[in-house]
Amino acid sequence: PSTKIFYPEGNDKMKKNAEFLASYIKEITGYELATATGQPGKGISLVIDQSIQNPEGYQLTVSDNGIRIAGSTDAGVFYGIQTLRKSIPATAQGMNVELPAATINDYPRFAYRGMMLDVSRHFFPVDSVKTYLDILALHNQNTFHWHLSDDQGWRIEIKKYPELTQIGSKRKETVIGHNSGTYDGKEYGGFYTQDQIRDVINYAAERHITIIPEIDMPGHQLAALATYPELGCTGGPYDVWGQWGVADDVICAGNEKSMQFLEDVLSEVIDLFPSEYIHIGGDEAGKASWPTCKLCQARMKKEGLKDVNELQSYLIHRIEVFLNGHNRKLLGWDEILEGGLAPNATVMSWRGTEGGMKAVESGHKAIMTPGEFCYFDSYQDAPDSQPEAIGGYLPLSKVYSFNPVPDTLSAEKVGLVYGVQANLFTEYIPTPEHAEMMIYPRVLALAEVAWSAPSKKNYEDFHVRALKAVEELKKSGYNPFELKNEIGNRPGADKPVEHLAVGKKVTYGLDAAYYPGYAAGGDTALVDGVRGGWTYGDKRWQGFIDKKRMDITIDLEKETELHFIGADFMQVCGPEVFMPADFYIR
Ligand code: ACM
Ligand code: ZN
Repeated sequence: PSTKIFYPEGNDKMKKNAEFLASYIKEITGYELATATGQPGKGISLVIDQSIQNPEGYQLTVSDNGIRIAGSTDAGVFYGIQTLRKSIPATAQGMNVELPAATINDYPRFAYRGMMLDVSRHFFPVDSVKTYLDILALHNQNTFHWHLSDDQGWRIEIKKYPELTQIGSKRKETVIGHNSGTYDGKEYGGFYTQDQIRDVINYAAERHITIIPEIDMPGHQLAALATYPELGCTGGPYDVWGQWGVADDVICAGNEKSMQFLEDVLSEVIDLFPSEYIHIGGDEAGKASWPTCKLCQARMKKEGLKDVNELQSYLIHRIEVFLNGHNRKLLGWDEILEGGLAPNATVMSWRGTEGGMKAVESGHKAIMTPGEFCYFDSYQDAPDSQPEAIGGYLPLSKVYSFNPVPDTLSAEKVGLVYGVQANLFTEYIPTPEHAEMMIYPRVLALAEVAWSAPSKKNYEDFHVRALKAVEELKKSGYNPFELKNEIGNRPGADKPVEHLAVGKKVTYGLDAAYYPGYAAGGDTALVDGVRGGWTYGDKRWQGFIDKKRMDITIDLEKETELHFIGADFMQVCGPEVFMPADFYIR
């Protein structure tokens, strides 16, 4: 308890670091350590050391002279403090803490390490957003991507358009389950005032986290259109969307009033958020109303745009000019590549890493957040054992295996891979506790992907640490997924199983060709002994589209005694994956 924490005199940010460290130690041990300026004696000293190269790197030294955490910036020192914090067992209340003598030189692999939270599908109050930021800070994540607007609710106060939050922040009711057609009949809403947002920005900044706000356009605009129907192509009426999935939700790209609206909103967003980047979405714009809209068609004619993709690109280019004119950079989901990428844009690659690769090959920066590895809204264990989720299957091991820099990327372009992010879309995540369960422990894997050199990664070692971390997190009051109870992938999906059809010839007769996008390895997929996993996204399920009747023959070559005969089918209604209506074996 008599240990002191020293920081350099006159450096407020280092003083803040010292106070953070004192508060962490108090939480873990109960001891209230004093902070002090000046030359360290025995104790913990936080120092700025310009010889440390990486601006977020640190050196942590434990010796019999005490503990020294050095970085060339206060951010680096903050990450060293997080390491020290995690080195003290959460059971240390009132106990002596002993640390082994060590010198750790540590620095991040990527400059951008982020997490996204969707507060539109479900609203997360300020306190829970702060908890989310605490989670980021604990794992050296430096960016919070705040998805503030979508079809299901507008969540940020805009002074010039007060109706956005009076009308656009509320939906009449919410669909039950996977678009069952049944609704809960309960009004749902919420939004942040600008004062609350400023408070959250400061809270994040103290923890060396930049908040990148997202205003999604030109699609995902239904909450705004429900408020101001004249901004859409048809004039509405529109409703704040009470179900999941993409609606006809584009703003009119031919209407100058709509462009003015977007720029006005962004003006207030820029005034609030100091981030270098502003995220403008750009994803999943259905554009269904654009081809028949007079204003959109007139714009396309006037500007010589050959299709609706080019019209979207026109809108994004204009928004980029606007942002650049206000000293900000444009960030968007990978659809902003379609119809031509805006000249200074950075791409957030979510539909695989291909979009990011494309951006990087043409000299743009990219942030990798592919659905397959980075969507924490998908199931982390056997779906039957978990609360309802959006789908997919993303266990801890898969997150950990992600390499954001594809091998095929040329060496001189590697530096353009700015970093990595995980996303939490919240259609099926109604509460902060549920969000924690989806984040933990997967964020531990993400943090290591973002921070550590690939040569240092080892899943077996990580798994042991993750099990320990889950116990510590529970003691700290978090609600992590119980990793020790993990069931894992569907039996047979990771290792082949034996059966009589393995290696036999399959003939696809009578209109039975599988869809090339769901080939699952081709003609031998059904007889390779490897079963499909919990998601068709694992590319192990063969898919068939628009079939009325199909015959598939598996030739066992000789008369064979059978004990069991069957086949596996998958049904996931949301993305329209269905069982066959009938199935015959003969
Ligand atoms: C996204 O998942 N629509 C970016
Ligand atoms: Zn239009």
